[in-house]
Order: sequence, then structure tokens, then C-alpha cells
Amino acid sequence: MPEMQTTSTITQLRKIISTARKVEGKIGFVPTMGALHQGHISLVHEARKHCDYVVVSIFVNPMQFGPNEDFHRYPRPLQDDLKLCLDAGVDLVFHPTVEEMYPAGFATSVEVNGLTDHLCGKSRPGHFKGVTTVVMKLFGQVQPDLAFFGQKDAQQALVIRKMATDLDLPLGIVICPTLREKDGLAMSSRNRYLSSEERSNAPAIYEALCQIESEIRSKKHSSCIPYREELLARLRSIPGAVVDYAEIVDAGSLEFTPEMRGEKLVAVAIRLGTTRLIDNILVNTSA
Ligand code: PAJ
Repeated sequence: MPEMQTTSTITQLRKIISTARKVEGKIGFVPTMGALHQGHISLVHEARKHCDYVVVSIFVNPMQFGPNEDFHRYPRPLQDDLKLCLDAGVDLVFHPTVEEMYPAGFATSVEVNGLTDHLCGKSRPGHFKGVTTVVMKLFGQVQPDLAFFGQKDAQQALVIRKMATDLDLPLGIVICPTLREKDGLAMSSRNRYLSSEERSNAPAIYEALCQIESEIRSKKHSSCIPYREELLARLRSIPGAVVDYAEIVDAGSLEFTPEMRGEKLVAVAIRLGTTRLIDNILVNTSA
């Protein structure tokens, strides 16, 4: 197998991939914003299982950040990222510049309605429009057979799957489980922003999710509302935490219905200091 290749231009990417498609076969794609951790690498491993040639993109996409969000301070440790990709057996890393992705005069966007009205869509206006636009561009550039996304960003994965269905994109979307630190904190590029005190409080987010899951399983209530109240109370008791949202919604539509029926997504977003963390679990209420 040839060494890992890297490129920052769309022209070269297309050249390399058209050869790879002929010579290697099935193309797997893992889009990322870099600052890679083992959660990202688990997607690469999954891609390796299903595909002959694995492409990772690293691009901190300005279009998905709000004006007061962390675009400028988002970590960009490219050399460390390339090393992790090489060790994980990635074939090609695409790391374009902002100018390459959004040349002067760029004027198109892709938007998924409905699913984006909930959860992070409410608190980050325009965020998903930025995500779907860049992912659509990346899909057009890489033309993968399969693309891999994390359950960690559950709403993002559903929105992208809906975009792929609605626009008849000839590819499959694979959603992979959330990788966690030993203490339960969901791995995230943003965890490196946490102070040591915030880091030691952060595992309480997943603990609260697990406690609610076991209460739901004990079928104490027939409505979501008391579970949600309890989840909110637990999250608010984390020192320094400001709860952005804590919701129990239908796992497919992301709509709120009070009945504890079908598969539910228990999803939370919390601010610890200046860092916004999200996490979620899926609970099958009929199990
Ligand atoms: P980023 O936050 O870098 O995440 C890239 C992919 O890694 C996403 O599919 C995300 O869900 C997945 N991921 C992150 N943490 C994970 C974890 N702990 N376990 C499993 N998977 C995890 O999500 C984005 O970038 C961007 O929005 C992007 C899709 C690249 C578009 O810009």
C-alpha cells in the first residue's frame, strides 16, 4: 500500500481519488474539523472495515460558526492530526484553505428544514446550514461510497442523512457510537479548552444521562416531563454549569412528544465556563 497522501487543493484531490476509485475500489470518507482524538479515529477504523480507500478531510468550516463562537480559537494542530491519520491507516488527507472552499463570490447554501428546528438548531442559528453546505461540497469533491459520522453529534448525523436522502446522493451514511474517556466524558476537540476544575466536573454530564436512562428503564413515569425535570436538576447541580438545553425527543424526528414511547434521544448541551459541550444517549423505551 502506498504511503498516506495529503493535499489542500480540490483539483489534486479529484485526480488522486479518480485513480483510487479505479485501482482500490470503494471510497470511505470521514469529514472532520481536525484536532483529532480517538473518537475521530474510531470513525476511520469503521471506514477501514467497510472500504478499500479512506479519505479524511480536515477543515475548520467558518460557515458553521456563529459570530460569537470559537472559530478563531478552534485548535488546528495539523502535524499531530496527520500523524494520527497515518497511524490509523488513512490513505488521503484533504486539508483545504478557507479560500479553496469558499472562493470570492461563493453564493450557494444547502439547508435541511424541520430537523434543524430543534436542539442545537435553536441555540446555534445558521449552524446546520453551514454544516450541510460544507458537507455537500465535500461529498461532491470526494464522491465517497460511504461517509462516517459520530452519534456524539446525533442531530448533525440525522440532518446529513436527511440531506443525502432528499438530494438523492449516491452514498451511504454510517453513524458510529460515541467514544468516551475512561470517566465517561464524550471525547471532543473542545475538551482541551476545559480548565482542570471544569474537566473534573465534566463527567457529571454523562453520569446524569446514565441516571436518567436507568430511571426511564424502571418505567417510573409515563411522561417525559418528570424525567426531563430531573435531568435538568442534575445538570444544574454541576458546579459552574449553565444548561443550554436538556431534552428528551423522538430519536428519528427530534420532535418532543410527552409520551414515553418508541426510541428517545436524551440530548444535552452545557456550558462549562466558555466551553460548550454536547452529549446524548439513545433509549429504547419499549426494551
Ligand atoms: P468534528 O467535530 O471534527 O467531528 C468530526 C466527526 O467526528 C463527526 O461526525 C463527529 O460526530 C465525530 N465525533 C466527534 N467526537 C466523537 C466521539 N467522541 N465519538 C465518535 N465520533 C465522534 O462534526 C464536525 O467536525 C463538523 O461539523 C463536520 C461534519 C466536519 C462539518 O464541518
